[in-house]
Amino acid sequence: MHRMLKPAPLVLALAALLAAACGGSREKGVAVTFNEDAWTPKLEQDIPKDSLGASITRGLYLLRFTPESLPQYATSALRCTSCHQNDGLKKSAAPLTGAQARFPKYMPRSGAVISLADRVNYCFTRSLAGNAIPVGSREMVDILAYLAFISMDVPVGAHIAGTDGLISMKDTLVGDVARGGQLFTERTCVTCHGPEGKGNGPVPALWGEKSYSIGASMAREERAASFIWHNMPQTKPGSLTPQEAFDLASFINSHARPDAPGKEGDWPLGGAPKDVPYNTKGHEAHRPPASLVARANPAGALVPNPPPIAHATAKK
Ligand code: HEC
Ligand code: HEC
Repeated sequence: MHRMLKPAPLVLALAALLAAACGGSREKGVAVTFNEDAWTPKLEQDIPKDSLGASITRGLYLLRFTPESLPQYATSALRCTSCHQNDGLKKSAAPLTGAQARFPKYMPRSGAVISLADRVNYCFTRSLAGNAIPVGSREMVDILAYLAFISMDVPVGAHIAGTDGLISMKDTLVGDVARGGQLFTERTCVTCHGPEGKGNGPVPALWGEKSYSIGASMAREERAASFIWHNMPQTKPGSLTPQEAFDLASFINSHARPDAPGKEGDWPLGGAPKDVPYNTKGHEAHRPPASLVARANPAGALVPNPPPIAHATAKK
């Protein structure tokens, strides 16, 4: 039997609370108590020896050997762990710890609330310049199983400090492309990544058709400078000045790289960060790459966003 439901007072109270929480200029989320000092992520040796453990292990190996495992989807010379170093656990390299507890979340770039599976596919399509993997596939479930494993005991809604992607560089400097080119040799980047930035085996490509796309966070000068300053050169991280990291980032990002179909629709409500290298609503491209390499499968490079929702604001 169907009848009209009268909203219960509790539901209305909750809705009012939520409206109040989201009405401000920031997407605050809901406060959750969590003592992160007493928390450590689970490691490979903690993976249970059962069916779930088998899925978690597969997920971990997909992160480590992405192009080798998924050649049709991961078509570039990058693995998930090329950026998410140390199996996604390294604090200065866009950590994935606790990711399961942070999603679904509102992403200003999409102007929508998105799921963790969609977020994984953003990295497949933009950071790996590859194709989205089917959300119901064995591989997606395995990746999500690993992300859940390294989020274990983090309460849903909790936020671990330093897990907002790459650490902010605070004072935003402007890189000198020519000086970055000199530093690329002087600071030994060239010995591993090669004079053409192509990488080799486990060393990922920095530019060219096998590198990350223009739509990746790493294609933004400040984001790349943060990764480089905290983590490179791999043999001697911490040996560069912030200015040198910006110089290197601007040099690397001045080169050709894969296009990201649909990028013009990013930040649909405006408010793109200053260093986004392509035009979006109300934003003019910051130092776009020399040229863009067309994608072999443009349809595969798209992750459809869920429709926007009322309280979304353009601000972070
Ligand atoms: C080229 C570098 C790069 C590669 C390769 C890459 N990512 Fe990312 N990923 C990032 C950055 C950077 C962020 C954070 C965004 C920021 O800092 O602006 C991120 C964010 C994420 C997030 C969201 C984390 C959160 O809590 O918000 C997930 C999940 C993720 N990546 C999964 C993956 C997976 C899975 C792969 C492999 C298929 C992958 N990434 C490959 C750079 C990369
Ligand atoms: C000893 C070899 C080595 C040296 C030297 C080195 N890298 Fe890397 N780099 C790597 C490896 C390997 C990775 C992948 C992450 C990992 O496995 O630690 C990486 C990842 C990167 C990434 C992120 C992934 C990508 O392809 O965009 C950037 C950016 C980067 N390096 C820039 C630099 C810069 C700039 C320098 C010089 C200051 C440098 N690297 C020096 C080996 C090296």
